[in-house]
Amino acid sequence: MLRGDKVGLRARHEDDIPILQAELNDDVVNYSRSDTRPWRPVTPGSKDSQFVVDDKEQRHVSFSVVELGGGTLVGDAVLWNIDNHNRSAHIGLGLLPSARGKGYGTDVVAVLSHYGFVVRGLHRLQIETLADNPAMLRSAERNGFVREGVLRSSAWVMGEFVDEVLLGLLARDWKP
Ligand SMILES: CC(C)(COP(=O)(O)OP(=O)(O)OC[C@H]1O[C@@H](n2cnc3c(N)ncnc32)[C@H](O)[C@@H]1OP(=O)(O)O)[C@@H](O)C(=O)NCCC(=O)NCCS
Repeated sequence: MLRGDKVGLRARHEDDIPILQAELNDDVVNYSRSDTRPWRPVTPGSKDSQFVVDDKEQRHVSFSVVELGGGTLVGDAVLWNIDNHNRSAHIGLGLLPSARGKGYGTDVVAVLSHYGFVVRGLHRLQIETLADNPAMLRSAERNGFVREGVLRSSAWVMGEFVDEVLLGLLARDWKP
């Protein structure tokens, strides 16, 4: 397990899946704001849930986020599109509603940065988020990510186009 100050990132357990599915993806608005694909219902137990992990998939590494204290599941975190030639990857995360606003998101970004830069030897990490998601923007900026641009009207979210902000962090600028 990878440890931050408040959270740990461990492997996905089978019984995490229905919780993540219900708390994150059954919420149409949260899903639509967090994922570029359109929301659709997922049959309970389906292997098509995005939270089912394929350990053979080399480009994505998925984690379950747990509280360090009691080990309670609090969310999902992923390093995705790992590119070993350009040595870059993207960060994604989602916390259960009851776990938001407690500093966990900031800690998850710190732990994923450590995983990307130290464990995987990457050179660049990137985050895309909606321009009206201050908690994600702040979680990234608290870890040294800088805003590199705005992708105008790039996300279709619940009936309207919304801007996304692109943030990046280079290994040489990272302060663990
Ligand atoms: C986005 C998310 C991961 C952030 O994690 P979090 O644990 O809630 O954020 P933190 O508690 O670490 O807060 C980070 C900063 O944002 C601020 N913040 C938190 N919630 C906020 C809100 N609703 N409005 C404004 N600022 C907010 C905090 O005050 C903190 O700022 P500070 O460091 O200056 O004090 C989490 O809220 C979440 O899972 N949201 C739903 C899914 C989502 O949006 N995922 C990201 C998709 S790209």
